Amino acid sequence: MPDNGPRGTEGYASEADALVRQYESLPFADVHRHVLHLLPRPPARVLDIGSGTGRDAAGLADLGHLVTAVEPTAALRLRAKHLHPSPRIDWVDDSLPDLRLLAAREHTFDVVMLTAVWMHLDAIERVRAMPVIAGLLRSGGLMMLTQRHGPVPAGRRMFDVPASETIALAETHGLTCIQRLEGGDSHFNRPGVTWDRLAFRR
Ligand SMILES: C[S@@+](CC[C@H](N)C(=O)[O-])C[C@H]1O[C@@H](n2cnc3c(N)ncnc32)[C@H](O)[C@@H]1O
Repeated sequence: MPDNGPRGTEGYASEADALVRQYESLPFADVHRHVLHLLPRPPARVLDIGSGTGRDAAGLADLGHLVTAVEPTAALRLRAKHLHPSPRIDWVDDSLPDLRLLAAREHTFDVVMLTAVWMHLDAIERVRAMPVIAGLLRSGGLMMLTQRHGPVPAGRRMFDVPASETIALAETHGLTCIQRLEGGDSHFNRPGVTWDRLAFRR
């Protein structure tokens, strides 16, 4: 399948089958062990942006949450839907920075999750996206964000975004950083790859 989706999705469609094997090999509870204690009691309304193969949407749905899973790469979204059929997951074709469909629905969420997607946006897109995301979060809601550092995989579009930049931008839009873990290890033991794990309260 050609990679002709929105900016940031380069390289994903053509590797969809391999990515299913890779991403689904990680348990949701392990990937998110640093933030699970911050989640509200189910059923909360959770928005998972850049939901990939649906591992986290499924993990959250299994906990009893109602999940909106946004994924612009059709090859991943369709596989995710097939792998994780759940009445608690709404699969949506939308993309950052504007999330046009989501924004038009005028729903707000208790939790917004951005796992390994923020660094796919360039600086201008990040500035555009943050107020859109903040506007989708209810007052008191939680935003969980991870961002990657290190070598960029072939064919991907990725930027090295300092945690301090993400925190400052979020704060401009009323989000307070409540967790800042920088330089964490890679789940796949990739040499030179580290992760920031951030959480915010609106
Ligand atoms: C590294 S994968 C992470 C997938 C999933 N969150 C996980 O942790 O397994 C990044 C995901 O972000 C999606 N993505 C890339 N650019 C995007 C954009 N502009 N808007 C929304 N999602 C995007 C990709 O299609 C891909 O599914």
